Amino acid sequence: MEEIAPSYDVVVLGTGLTECILSGVMSVKGQKVLHMDRNDHYGGEAASVNLETLFKKYGNFQAGTEPWKKYGRPNDWNIDLVPKLLMSNGELTNILVSTDVTRYIEFKQIAGSYVQQGQGSRATVAKVPSDASEALRSPLMGIFEKRRAKNFLQWVGSFDEANPSTHNGMNLSQVTMKQVYDKYGLEATTRDFIGHSMALYETDEYIDKKGQAKDCVERIRLYVNSMARYGKSPYIYPLYGLGELPQGFARLSAIYGGTYMLNTTVDEIKYDASGKVEGIKATMKERGEEGEGMKFETKCKKILADPSYFPDKAKVVGHLVKAICILNHPIDKTDNADSLQLIIPQSQVGRKHDIYVAMVSSTHNVCPRGYYIAIVSTISESSSNHHLELQPGLERLGKIEEQFMGPAIPIYEPLEGGEKDGVFLSKSYDASSHFETMTDDVRDVYRRAECEELKVQGLKDGEQLVAEE
Ligand SMILES: *[C@@H]1O[C@H](CO)[C@@H](O)[C@H](O)[C@H]1NC(C)=O
Ligand SMILES: *[C@@H]1O[C@H](CO)[C@@H](O)[C@H](O)[C@H]1NC(C)=O
Repeated sequence: MEEIAPSYDVVVLGTGLTECILSGVMSVKGQKVLHMDRNDHYGGEAASVNLETLFKKYGNFQAGTEPWKKYGRPNDWNIDLVPKLLMSNGELTNILVSTDVTRYIEFKQIAGSYVQQGQGSRATVAKVPSDASEALRSPLMGIFEKRRAKNFLQWVGSFDEANPSTHNGMNLSQVTMKQVYDKYGLEATTRDFIGHSMALYETDEYIDKKGQAKDCVERIRLYVNSMARYGKSPYIYPLYGLGELPQGFARLSAIYGGTYMLNTTVDEIKYDASGKVEGIKATMKERGEEGEGMKFETKCKKILADPSYFPDKAKVVGHLVKAICILNHPIDKTDNADSLQLIIPQSQVGRKHDIYVAMVSSTHNVCPRGYYIAIVSTISESSSNHHLELQPGLERLGKIEEQFMGPAIPIYEPLEGGEKDGVFLSKSYDASSHFETMTDDVRDVYRRAECEELKVQGLKDGEQLVAEE
């Protein structure tokens, strides 16, 4: 049992990835951190769970039966609760490298990045072309469109903010992405896969926003450069599942003196006369302990927390729906890829939000050989039938052995910045298929709480996180 100090610089509530990164970097910076979670495991919504836990969490079985037994040992399964992949040149990778958390976690490539065109039985599923030569071979475009896409991708590849001769006469801080697409004469379906499967926008709102073109071009460049790093896809994924990530940062924090307490409920947040947080009362329960648990009180200067700890200081901005599916075959039309990301752009299936399919397998030590774990997800657009909303994605999976689908998950954002009360909230995970928005949030919380920018060094050219295959 850890000793509780009389005071801390920061109390962190929740061990989701955002909170664990923050507690890691703050500990490294020399702050005294107390990190607590009401759950008895790390990761919150970003945990990976075994198969038995998954069945029980979703109540997918009848009392007295043990359906997980036919899938081998439950502990051979590490199933993510959120479907996300790392961009190999993305900000999370940079944070992992610059904090050296990479020494605790091994990564593997994701084998493919796909996009769907059309729907139902007439749908085309194809690799997302990431450079000029792939564009010329892509079945997603006709012969003339291939050339236009090639020109566009070549321009994006050579774009350099500092060098106006590469701007092709456009100031990206002033034009909309529609104007850029128009300049290259790209068709609607091409805009769709570029915006949604390369720039990874979840909706079409970006197209008409003034000044958004620069962001879009940067996103495409991130995709293309991530792709170029290892070759198969722009994505990497940790062996044993995403749950390894928060735990890696928790270890980092602990090495620098951070104190961790799981299974600990918050009883009271104490504020001073000016309304600023000054301490916390909590109770921790040890395994197998009878009775009330250990009550304690400590002082702190600030609190960082996931929004579920302060529902009255957060608002719901949407609902995520997802289905976790177990398959015993790869997904059709994907070259038998052992892992992939498949994006179904919203307009292809008459929606406003994209549908994502993320699949991993035994290659990533998350399930026994011969099985695949696919998560289909989207932002809910109606209160009706979630199954129906996910249908275009589920349809891609073929025969499904098991399907776990809970209620829609609310997505929270903080109401205020936290400067007034010293309580700095993160956002819930959004629907995006990668961690870029989460790392934006890490930066944002850090900026609000520390009044300075989080400094991160990236991978150097040629530096590899994933062994060559
Ligand atoms: C582009 O526009 C921004 C303002 O919107 C301006 O600050 C910048 O200097 C312009 N860049 C060039 C290359 O003209
Ligand atoms: C957490 O607390 C519960 C009681 O609330 C207890 O049954 C469980 O064993 C505890 N878990 C750990 C890891 O201490």
